[in-house]
Amino acid sequence: MTKRYAPATERNRAPLLAVLQSQLPEQGVVLEIAAGSGQHAAYFAPQLAPRLWLPTDVGAANLASINEWCAEVDCAGLLATQYLDVLDTVWAVEQQVLPESVSAIVNINMLHIAPWACCHALFAGAKRILGDEGVVLIYGPFKQQGQHTSVSNEAFDANLRGENATWGIRDQEAVTEVAREAGFECASTIAMPANNQVLVFRPQ
Ligand SMILES: C[S@@+](CC[C@H](N)C(=O)[O-])C[C@H]1O[C@@H](n2cnc3c(N)ncnc32)[C@H](O)[C@@H]1O
Repeated sequence: MTKRYAPATERNRAPLLAVLQSQLPEQGVVLEIAAGSGQHAAYFAPQLAPRLWLPTDVGAANLASINEWCAEVDCAGLLATQYLDVLDTVWAVEQQVLPESVSAIVNINMLHIAPWACCHALFAGAKRILGDEGVVLIYGPFKQQGQHTSVSNEAFDANLRGENATWGIRDQEAVTEVAREAGFECASTIAMPANNQVLVFRPQ
């Protein structure tokens, strides 16, 4: 059994779907980076037609799990799962002909569970793929002006850093600065349940 189960996806998927429906372009490929278990892909793709949903991840076990979740969904808009490590200087998806061009990049709960270099790499890749159009949506917990937004986020951050010194809840302003250097402006921030946020970036 390779199917993984991430309980948080069941709590955050409905509010996230509402944001996706309001922020995504009407058409094109939505490139999901760090798709994890694959539960989000299987839930979002059928509800976001006619957009196409392309789930990716760096971990072999996650790729297998994404395939299992997506196999249970009868959705023509779900594209084949792909390996994607944001740290690669060229992503395989950049060298492929997709059915439609990528119009959006979605990244859920990765930046705090990956080294900071992944933030730079994510926006560099997003710029290579999107150019001057589209949107990048980042979901997760963030600090604001160096301060945690809740006691629970502060405790979560300490746990993360204890597990891996390169992890940790990121400063929203630092993420926005990395995005700006890559050519994106923070168009809006959307408060989400449980002290999370969606950061909406568009090409400058
Ligand atoms: C906490 S999980 C979140 C998964 C899923 N988005 C969710 O919300 O359940 C963090 C994810 O980041 C992915 N990740 C970590 N480093 C990465 C990298 N360098 N490139 C792409 N994905 C990465 C992991 O494989 C994992 O799936």
